[in-house]
Amino acid sequence: MNLTIPGPKGLPVSGNLLAFRRDPLGFLQEAASEHGDIVHFRFGPTRHIYLLTNPEHIKEVLVVKHEHFRKAKGLQVAKVVVGEGILTSEGKKHLRQRRLMQPAFHRERIAAYGQTMVDLTLAMIEQWRDGEEIDVHDEMMKVTLAIITKTMFGKGLKEGVDKIGQAIEVGLHYVSTKASSFIDIPLSVPTRSNLKFREAAETLDKAIYAIIDERRRTGNTERTDLLGMLLAARDEDDGTGMTDKQVRDEVMTIFLAGHETTANTMSWIWYLLATHPEAEKKLQSELDEVLGGRTPTVEDIPRLAYVNQIISEAMRLYPAAWAISREVVDEVDIGGQTFHPGETLMMSQYVMHRNPKYYDNPDQFLPERFAGDLLKRIPSFAYFPFGGGPRICIGNNFARMEAALLLAAIAQRCRLPLANPERPVEPEPLVTLRPKNGLPVRVEKRS
Ligand code: HEM
Repeated sequence: MNLTIPGPKGLPVSGNLLAFRRDPLGFLQEAASEHGDIVHFRFGPTRHIYLLTNPEHIKEVLVVKHEHFRKAKGLQVAKVVVGEGILTSEGKKHLRQRRLMQPAFHRERIAAYGQTMVDLTLAMIEQWRDGEEIDVHDEMMKVTLAIITKTMFGKGLKEGVDKIGQAIEVGLHYVSTKASSFIDIPLSVPTRSNLKFREAAETLDKAIYAIIDERRRTGNTERTDLLGMLLAARDEDDGTGMTDKQVRDEVMTIFLAGHETTANTMSWIWYLLATHPEAEKKLQSELDEVLGGRTPTVEDIPRLAYVNQIISEAMRLYPAAWAISREVVDEVDIGGQTFHPGETLMMSQYVMHRNPKYYDNPDQFLPERFAGDLLKRIPSFAYFPFGGGPRICIGNNFARMEAALLLAAIAQRCRLPLANPERPVEPEPLVTLRPKNGLPVRVEKRS
């Protein structure tokens, strides 16, 4: 522990844990503004956490000295679902998997999924009745899950999106409650939630292994969907591919990491547009001008400047990944301080993205701030919604493309004003940052 590093006062045993749990975002913001570049706090008697608020230090951890760190403990919980996929694996194993998978996420490759994204979005809007109230957060979860399932398995899906979708929801729920729970009940204990999770995991395993098996048997490893690309991937050095277990773990990883984050980002976009009518008008003018009533395609995205600015600004104010952490493995110096194995360094997108040093009127929704060279003027880790370094989000292009198509296709057809404008919408920082209690809106179809 480093006694020279300042931080907020805590209670004798629990330290700062209760204050953090009561209001994680407020706690981190206050700690950053009162104590400077590196802030020390304690969770319980022995867990020492250091919050980094200087973008240069964040870069040191995520990029320059990344080999001194591994993903922090919180993520280990996810292993019950995703096994040793790229989100949770470390070192050589991570590097090999990342190299194998990277090509599947290149911009040109994923462009082929644009049509699927738009088709599923239009099918969702089709179900909405003019004037009806919907929980748009729920709708965004469903559509992003349908998109990731379809782009993952293409036509190979026999079980149906619904059944797989429900099983994934159970898995996600299990991981997020376990990650934020004090008591660690092993999966072998037959509690109701453990049994439900085990059943869901079995459904998913069966479905995934059946598809892998059929593809391998029929020699159909065409690269038309993500699964095909995973099956066809070969190591550059030794030419070997992935085992079935590894493919299964990566499929689960992409399910876990690849839909809730985008769904949350979309929900925040709808909330921000509903509360900023001038931005909504500007968006509609752009959509009418660029698309002229035509359904958007991937090729339109670069010309939809305001759409892209809205997405960047929503991810600044409400970053779905609101904080990431690393555990020190080998002693390391960051910002003139020495950190020891077992200590945790935390970096918060939410805190950095609202720092007045880098952003004028940091709490205001101003998509136009991204119109100029803002990202060139500020340090790279003053804005990092997708993380950085060798573990930067592998799905960042996928997510941005999906968000742009969803936003353009929906806003072109509907307005979504809040159903209860007087009810405050609060961010809830669980594993990801989502609107607490959903986001009820009223569908107003545009004529
Ligand atoms: C707006 C949407 C998204 C946001 C904000 C987001 C954010 C992030 C962040 C911050 C990380 C780094 C975590 C860390 O360093 O500890 C990450 C990693 C990852 N993301 Fe995303 N993500 C999004 C969408 C997606 C999508 C759509 C996919 C897949 C299709 C995906 C797959 C992954 C994977 C596999 C990793 C682990 C990469 C590695 O460790 O090598 N994400 N994401």
